[in-house]
Amino acid sequence: MDILDVHKIFYEQYGDTSIMKGIYGQQPIVFLFNVQDIEKLYRNEGIWPIRKGIESFQYYRKSRKDIFQNPGLLTHQGEEWFKFRSVVNPILMQPRNVLRYVDQMNLVADELIDNIKYFSEQNEYGEMPEDFNHELYKWSLESIGVVTMDKHLGCLRRDSDKNSEPQKLIENVLKMFQLITNLKYVNQYLDKLEKGETNEEGEKANVLQTLVKLDRNVAIAMAIDMMIAGVDTTGRILAASLYYLAKNPEAQQQLRNEAVTLLKAKNSPVTKETLSKAAYLKAVIKETARLSPISIGNLRTTVKNLVLGGYQIPKGTDVITSNLLLCKMDKNFSRANEFLPERWLSTTTGELSHKNTNPFLFAPFGYGPRSCVGKRLANLEMEVALLKIIRNFELEWPHEDMVFKTTILHGIAQPLKLHIKSVKY
Ligand code: HEM
Repeated sequence: MDILDVHKIFYEQYGDTSIMKGIYGQQPIVFLFNVQDIEKLYRNEGIWPIRKGIESFQYYRKSRKDIFQNPGLLTHQGEEWFKFRSVVNPILMQPRNVLRYVDQMNLVADELIDNIKYFSEQNEYGEMPEDFNHELYKWSLESIGVVTMDKHLGCLRRDSDKNSEPQKLIENVLKMFQLITNLKYVNQYLDKLEKGETNEEGEKANVLQTLVKLDRNVAIAMAIDMMIAGVDTTGRILAASLYYLAKNPEAQQQLRNEAVTLLKAKNSPVTKETLSKAAYLKAVIKETARLSPISIGNLRTTVKNLVLGGYQIPKGTDVITSNLLLCKMDKNFSRANEFLPERWLSTTTGELSHKNTNPFLFAPFGYGPRSCVGKRLANLEMEVALLKIIRNFELEWPHEDMVFKTTILHGIAQPLKLHIKSVKY
């Protein structure tokens, strides 16, 4: 049984609102399965919403003041969180700023494409290797490395040593025990910046360059958080989108038609203009996140007394929303268990259109001022890579249906052994 099964059982046995009382001495947690209650929770989260982090993580950060002079966004709360977030928001949340990374994203995606081609030539079915999922994590780590530190970690190099630092870093991030190794790169880079050894200024300055001018501790904490929050997540959604496209040839063909129109040659770069026209691509990513979000719900600690589902919920209660279950119910989304990206297109009308659904049901990046700060960056990474992959390759899934599991994160739980062929045109 995994965490999603626990949600299902709670919903089936107790309905829209339920409470799980302290396991292992933890505070009770309230489960919300009614979208009106979810909406009410968010609308009352205040200006400094509280989302508790993983406690061991918090403890570690507090106890290692030598490294974490600033605990970072993931674990900060209250006014301190707000101050940090206000510094980072203009850099990561403004579309114009994030789009500046499109060239780097193309370079990283090209390395991934090159590896996929290589793997597909290794056997007669073009089957991806057992650890292909890992390849996608390498792609997301490489993308984050480039954005934070202008550093090509070299994760996607086929000759890279399995014991190299980038490889160990991925292992560590996946285990959520990401510790010291990446600090080495962050510190090396900050030292370089301070010695004036890099010359990118103004418009071209990257995340760390911009932050370090404001506060070195904020820069360190943010670089670490980006590596923790930005690897497993983006890699998982890309993996799931490849799986769904392989299982749904019509959607795959529709996306390829868009890709061929927008990218004349297989190696054409993806530009801002390309992305502004790629409506189906964006719909595919949304539909993937609807059916397989990385987080099956979202956590908040209430900041005032609330009535939810008819119960008095005192200030300071931990509450979890159950978005994935709700997104898979036919009463909320038409043909809810089918992969139908067109539901997200503005041109789609009638029952299938997402406009008929409550916007609080679908929240893959969370909600409000505490929502994912890497949302725009993650979308940019995924859009560039996915468009290029579909422009270059045909995907098939000749196996049993994929198993999805939920631990802290949700996602595919078996090797992504897609069968991949190069597109001829
Ligand atoms: C597809 C990829 C991603 C998904 C689905 C995702 C999802 C989420 C979700 C659901 C939250 C909690 C939001 C809330 O409480 O309302 C979150 C928070 C966060 N994410 Fe992401 N994320 C992704 C990629 C990234 C990337 C690439 C970064 C790197 C910048 C990142 C950095 C963060 C940070 C720092 C937070 C904490 C924000 C805060 O508390 O102020 N995420 N993300």
